[in-house]
Order: sequence, then C-alpha cells, then structure tokens
Amino acid sequence: MRVRYIVPALLCVCAFAAEPIRFLPEKKLFIIDAGPVTWVAGINERNELQHVYWGGRVTRDADWNAVHSLPEWASFDLTTTTTPQEYPGQGAGLFTEPCLKITMQDGNRDLVLHYASHKIAGNTLTITLKDISNNVFADVSYTAYPDSGIIRRATLIRNNTNQPLVIENAQSGVWYVPQGTGYRLSYLAGRWAGETQLQHEPVNPGLKVIESRRGATSAQANPWFALDRDASEEHGRVWFGALGWSGSWRISIEETPLHQVRVTGGFNPFDFGYRLKPGESLETPGFYGGYTEGGFGEASRVLHRFERAQILPERSRSRPRPVLYNSWEATTFNVDEAGQRALAEKAASIGVERFVMDDGWFGARDNDRAGLGDWVVNPRKFPNGLKPLIDAVHHSGMDFGLWVEPEMVNPNSDLYRAHPDWVINFAGRPRTEGRHQLVLNLARDDVKEHIFGVLDRLVTDNDIAFLKWDMNRNFSEPGWPEAAPEDQKKIWVAYTRNLYDIIDRLRERHPKLEIESCSGGGGRVDLGMLQRVDEVWTSDNTEAFDRLSIQNGFTHAYTPQVMMAWVTDVPNMNGRSTSLKYRFLVAMNGSLGIGANLNHWSNEDFALARNMVALYKSIRTTVQQGRLYRLIMPPADVVASEYVSDDGAQAVFFAFRHSQQLGEPAAAICLRGLDPNATYRLRRVDGLLLDRGDELSGSYLMNQGLRFNLSGDFAGSAVVLERE
Ligand code: DGJ
Repeated sequence: MRVRYIVPALLCVCAFAAEPIRFLPEKKLFIIDAGPVTWVAGINERNELQHVYWGGRVTRDADWNAVHSLPEWASFDLTTTTTPQEYPGQGAGLFTEPCLKITMQDGNRDLVLHYASHKIAGNTLTITLKDISNNVFADVSYTAYPDSGIIRRATLIRNNTNQPLVIENAQSGVWYVPQGTGYRLSYLAGRWAGETQLQHEPVNPGLKVIESRRGATSAQANPWFALDRDASEEHGRVWFGALGWSGSWRISIEETPLHQVRVTGGFNPFDFGYRLKPGESLETPGFYGGYTEGGFGEASRVLHRFERAQILPERSRSRPRPVLYNSWEATTFNVDEAGQRALAEKAASIGVERFVMDDGWFGARDNDRAGLGDWVVNPRKFPNGLKPLIDAVHHSGMDFGLWVEPEMVNPNSDLYRAHPDWVINFAGRPRTEGRHQLVLNLARDDVKEHIFGVLDRLVTDNDIAFLKWDMNRNFSEPGWPEAAPEDQKKIWVAYTRNLYDIIDRLRERHPKLEIESCSGGGGRVDLGMLQRVDEVWTSDNTEAFDRLSIQNGFTHAYTPQVMMAWVTDVPNMNGRSTSLKYRFLVAMNGSLGIGANLNHWSNEDFALARNMVALYKSIRTTVQQGRLYRLIMPPADVVASEYVSDDGAQAVFFAFRHSQQLGEPAAAICLRGLDPNATYRLRRVDGLLLDRGDELSGSYLMNQGLRFNLSGDFAGSAVVLERE
C-alpha cells in the first residue's frame, strides 16, 4: 500500500524539482519557472532575444517550440517591430518603445541587440546581448522568486567600445502579456493629500505613460501596474508589476498596431542623457513582475508577501510595527521640551510604543521659511539638548523618533549661506523655491558626505530609534554646474543612487535604526525605497473617510505593514468630522499611529483610545502580516476589508458606512479565506453586530455573511474572529 502512494508523490516532486531556470540548447529556449509562474524566451533565427510566454506554470518543456521572428505587416510594420523582443535597442526598423537608445560619439544612433551569451547562477538568468557591430552590451537579468512567482528584471548596459556614448533611454525591460485585445490597465495616480487613487482604463492601440519627471517617485503616479481582461477582485488572470526606483521613472503601456500589449519600465527618458566612457556601465532599476489567476486580491497578497519576504530590510520583515505617536498635527513647528514631554506622557498612557517629534526642533525652524539644513538642536526650545526629552520618553516605556528632511535647505539657513552652490541649479538662473526650500544636490559627493555625517552624528549622539525622513519638494532647474556639461544630466540617476548610499551606510552603522520614507505623505513609496526603509508615510491627508480610498489604492501595491495610518483631530480635510472610533478603525487597517493633539482629548477619548490601542495590539500581526481581502472597495456606501493571519487562527473584519439613506440597513457581508469547517469565536467591537451568538462557523461567515447595524453617517465597526 505504502509503495503505491510513494511513487506518485515522488513523480510529483520530480515534476517541480527541475532546475527553476533552464536553457534548451536544441531549441535555443530559456525557461524560468518561478513557483506558479512560467516565463519563456528564445533566440530566433536573427539572433534576437524573442519573448514567448509569461503566465501560469507550464510543466512540460517539450511543449515549447523554437522561436522564429514574426512576419512584417506590409512594408510598414517591419519584422523588427512585429517580433516581441525582450530587450529591443532603438535601431533597425523598430517603431515601438525601445529598451535602450544610445548615440555614439560619431553620431551613429543605430543599436541592434543580438544574443551573445548567457549565464545561469542559482535563480538568476543573465543573457548578454551585443550590438551587431559595436561593443555595446546589455546584460539582461531575470531573477526568479519561486515562493511568490515574482521575477525581477534589470539590465546592465556596458560600453566596451573605445569611444564615449550617451544613453538617452535605459529601460529595465519589457513585459509582454499574451497577444490580443481587450486588456484593461489598472494603476495608481494622485497628488499631494490624494495619493494612490486606483484607476482603471481600457488598453487601446497607442501608448499610455505613467511616470514621474520630478526626481522622486512622486504622488502623481506610483510605479505599479496591473493588466487583466476579465479579472475581478478574487478571480481571473492578472499580470502585474512594480518598479524599484525612487527617482524619475516611467512605465509605458503600449498596444501595438498588431495588438501586442507590452509594458516597458525603467529610468524616465525625459531629460535623460547618461554618458558612458569606454569601460563604464549603467545598471537600470529592478522591474518586478508577477502573475496570478486569483484576481486583484491575490495579486496584492502575492506582492505583500514578496515585499515582506524579499524587499524590506531584514530586521523589519517579520517584526510588526510599533504603535507610534507623531507630534506634527498637534504642535507643528511649536515644539519645546515641556510641550513634547507632556504629549509623550499622554501618548504612553494609551499604549503608544514610539514617540516621534516632528518638524521644528532644529536651527531657526519656527516656520517653513528658515532653518532647513541646520541640523543643530534649537537651544531656545531645548536648552539641554534632546537628552532630557529622550530620557523622559524612555522612562515612559517608549522609544524615540525624530523628523529630518536631509535633502533640503532653506535659503534662510546657515548651510545655504555657507554653501549656496550645494543646491541643484543652473548657473546664473533663478532658483525656484517650493515651500521656501531648495534641493541639495546629492549627486555631488561632498554634499552626500555632509548629509551622511550630519545624520550619523545625530544618531550617534542621541538615543534615536527611528528617523522620519521627509522630502517636501521635487526638482526644478535640474542643473549640476560643477559636473562636465556632458555629464550634467546624470543628476537624475546619481542623486537617487547617492540617496540610497546614505541610507544604506546609515543603517549599516546603526543596525537598530528604523526609517520612515515620507515625501509630504506618500510621494516616495516604491520598491527601491522599501528595500531600505521600514515603513512609509501614506499621506498628509489623515481624514479618515478620504483615507479609505488612499489606503485601498495603496494596498494594491504595498503591504499594510508599511502603510502608516494616524488617528488625528477633527474637523479635518474637507471640513469633515467623524467619530474617534471611526478614525481609529480606519487607521487600524494599516500600521497604527496617533497624530492628534492629546492635550485636547477628554477622559472618554483617552478611555476609548486605550481600548483601541489594546485591541490593535491584539490584531496587528494579522493586519500587518496576514492576508488582506478587500471585500468591498471604495467608492461604495459600505466599504469592508478582512485580514486573515498566516496560520488562519485569527481574522479581523472592518466595515465602514458612508451615509445611510431612507433608513436602509446595511446588507450582510460575506467573509473570505476562512476554514469552512472551523468554528470562530467572535469578539465584537462595540456590539454593533446583529448576528446572535458568540460563535459562527467559517461556512456561515463566508456564505451567509455578517450583518451590521451600520446606521447614520460615517459609521464603522470591526469584529475579531478567533478560530477555535
Ligand atoms: C510633511 C510631512 O508629510 C508631515 O507629516 C510633516 O512631517 C511635515 N512635512 C513637517 O514639515
């Protein structure tokens, strides 16, 4: 009996035990199996690297044929255009988006990349392409992450000629979905205080660009996309991807005249010009792609898991975020020792674990017109330095965090008076200010070293567990007068690389330091930043109802673990007031923080807050690291979400009503992801649940659903379910 069961099991193991990356020499095919996903490309008769397939797992290598280029469409769409090249150079007859465009010193702008060699090392495949006549190389790499099905692409562009060349467009790669019409694009767009708004639109012939030309990721669009034809939240095929770059980026979604849909992503070619001297190289950002048959919900869950397992700094991968308090909305620039101590004491009394002092503690920073760049403690506000406040915070059982905006300078600052040349500028031209500040040119190594030194000293001299790293404006007049004219456009890449370098070195020197990425809210959230920060500030818009749509978009691309959400005061944005309970419940869908002025809270507010923080601590691992089901997404009268812990032992359900009309009761909401045969014990928040009894089966919860008494405007409720 036993033997009969062992044999099929072994066969099954063998089918999946083949090397995850294979080259079939007789067919000249590359096959990558990344868990549930397969990707295939081949070398065609012209030696181009031709795309074959990206989608669900295909288990039989013998099914794939050798590739042959596609025919031209009359004399207009030449075969170089109709053939889906994995990394097309701008040359020959290419009329679609290239991955690489260069100009040689002699003016030659024809680049035709053909297969030269390849290497397979563990889970990474590197295919080297070379121009047909010049020694210009592109090492196109693919790294497979079998646990998630994600594949990371990046390309190293090398100039092995004996003359300099200029790269005018360097993309990480192009993702192809199966040829055909009827695709839909989903992406995230927004602005300050209105980030990550989910957009959907049909893909039609032509080119759609989402991008930032701002020197930072930006709130205008976020580098994430998804393509589907008929998927829903929990069903259907979705191809998705995200770019790991925190400077100017671009993702272009293109449907060719022959209905090939392709997504190209990398550095933004706007104002791009990267000179490579002989022997020099440029590496593009990582462009991550994934595929699922489980709809948008599963696409997000795959990304969330992947980010926690592979992207976030190792220390933060499995550690849930502490509950923090931030002083900004309470005190703005009016910080001082007594005021912050009073807030810290109150924050500790409701269970806060980290106290963060925001802007205003340094230099002449009494408002946003002065002081940025002068990172010395203001002696009027803190006569004995930060130590007494930090000690008091520690004494209350919290750790201490501090706001910084290291990349910026107010012209009214000692730093700018000493180094007016340190900012991004064009010599002799006006320097446009944003929030009365200019951008320090991090591309310069002296500026980079200065910033590193300042932060290193700050963290060495003070017991600081956490930095909130802000960036409140984007580039203008992107000049770098000290660099050779032909190298000045490198600023777009060099700035971000040096920013990464500062953060990486800081973390290395201070391994316990945690960092939040903030750019006036969610203006610098991307997989490049998430590799080096522990959390992000989602939006300066802390109004709870607005937050529902911001958070909904955010979770399409990023794990709730990094999504900081504060409870703040009302009336807030839009002049809207909601109850403290509603604000707490909305914020508990991410990593909870408090940003209210606690000096204005009543005893009842404190009592409610204590309960909510305690409740949150009992569910935070599930919310931050569990599986998210967006049951009903905004815009809708009732919005609902559910989180199920990895081991399935706990689930948390939230529901929010916008405005009841005509006395309509809210309809029952069916849960997902539970064990139908298990019984769950229900912990109600505020007893709003209409279903009787303290226990319900998974099958009841997922089929009959939960019914709530969500009456009135801006009502919210939550239920915690523990599997018995
Ligand atoms: C913008 C941030 O998003 C706010 O949270 C706050 O830190 C201010 N800057 C401080 O100037």
